[in-house]
Amino acid sequence: MLGLTGGIACYKIAELTRLLTKAGATVQVAMTEAATQFITPVTMQALSGRPVYTSQWDARIDNNMPHIDLSREADAIVIAPASTDFLAKLAHGMADDLLSTLCIARDCPLLVVPAMNRQMWMNPATQRNVAQLRADGVLVLGPDSGSQACGEVGDGRMIEPEAAYEAIVSFFQPKMLSGRRVLITAGPTFEPLDPVRGITNLSSGKMGFALARAAQQAGADVHLVAGPVTLDTPWGVFREDVQTAQQMHDAVMQAVADCDIFIAVAAVADWRANHVSEHKIKKTADRKLPSFAFVENPDILAAVAKLPHPPFCVGFAAESGNLDANGEEKRVRKNVPLLIGNLGPQTFGRDDNEVALFEAGGVTRLPRADKTTLAQTLIGEIARRLPDMSLIS
Ligand code: C5P
Repeated sequence: MLGLTGGIACYKIAELTRLLTKAGATVQVAMTEAATQFITPVTMQALSGRPVYTSQWDARIDNNMPHIDLSREADAIVIAPASTDFLAKLAHGMADDLLSTLCIARDCPLLVVPAMNRQMWMNPATQRNVAQLRADGVLVLGPDSGSQACGEVGDGRMIEPEAAYEAIVSFFQPKMLSGRRVLITAGPTFEPLDPVRGITNLSSGKMGFALARAAQQAGADVHLVAGPVTLDTPWGVFREDVQTAQQMHDAVMQAVADCDIFIAVAAVADWRANHVSEHKIKKTADRKLPSFAFVENPDILAAVAKLPHPPFCVGFAAESGNLDANGEEKRVRKNVPLLIGNLGPQTFGRDDNEVALFEAGGVTRLPRADKTTLAQTLIGEIARRLPDMSLIS
């Protein structure tokens, strides 16, 4: 059930509805009178594919009790955007229109996505109401900070529809990693040669970001150390951006102490220039080619696995051939309990992947799947192996 209340952020709910229906959710829309001033029920009906309800007095419901019938059908009620007034009503248990009555008659979880002017959000009355809602077990998603429709800048704008969608999906995932801390590296690294050039690789970061998202959805506290990529941060994930392998190594070493799981997905450059030119390297008149000397970068995964009390370490390997032999050899060499191998680098940048799990007990092949689904499967596989942690520490 998606409930819209009055606010300019109603325009974002068209996209949120589209994302939810595309993912296979049944979206039943209910709107307050005020919400219909901002977006029409016709638009919401077209996007959700179902009739929209706006009034308690609706003859379309056989027993004329829409507040009971509609709320019983819902797995969750999401109020987006949630206006100042509606939050106040919820906090005080008021029920003077269909949507507020639906909320108070519910026997399912309630999620609210606030959207309002910054002064309205900061007002002590609103803050009291939000604290009360949290205490009542309501999940509050956002708000964001930034420029607002009224021209002011501050806290109160609705989180983007993609973030709301991710948060809702996350809410429904089984919490296999609840209370666990997960550290993930993702993307390529960039090793400069001069101020404008460097060595990097074609890793898109998609697999690492998908794993970060899936781990967060499974209830983990996720710290993502990302090389240079153009991906949005998954909802609820703490992201730290780095460029070089050395920076990635340092960020990981800083964060690893209290982690339960380390997943090294990054395609870390093996070498860096031992001297980075301060100025752009120019072509010379005699067309003499520049030469570079390289030094080896630290192996981040091996370094973490070598710690006296390492977290459960998961490595990745993109092999160009003979995956079975190379995968197991790499797992043993890196001293990790689990290594996920794929026949790369042809998987770089793609949206799907086919992997095999290497561990002491043997190899398990997973069917080809899109990276989002695969990440959820892998997080499940990792979670199942966690009880063995004591054996490797
Ligand atoms: O040795 P190779 O690069 O094939 O190993 C791949 C695995 O090791 C990946 O999990 C990768 O993230 C990790 N790795 C690392 N630091 C490096 C090189 C690789 O953490 N310098």
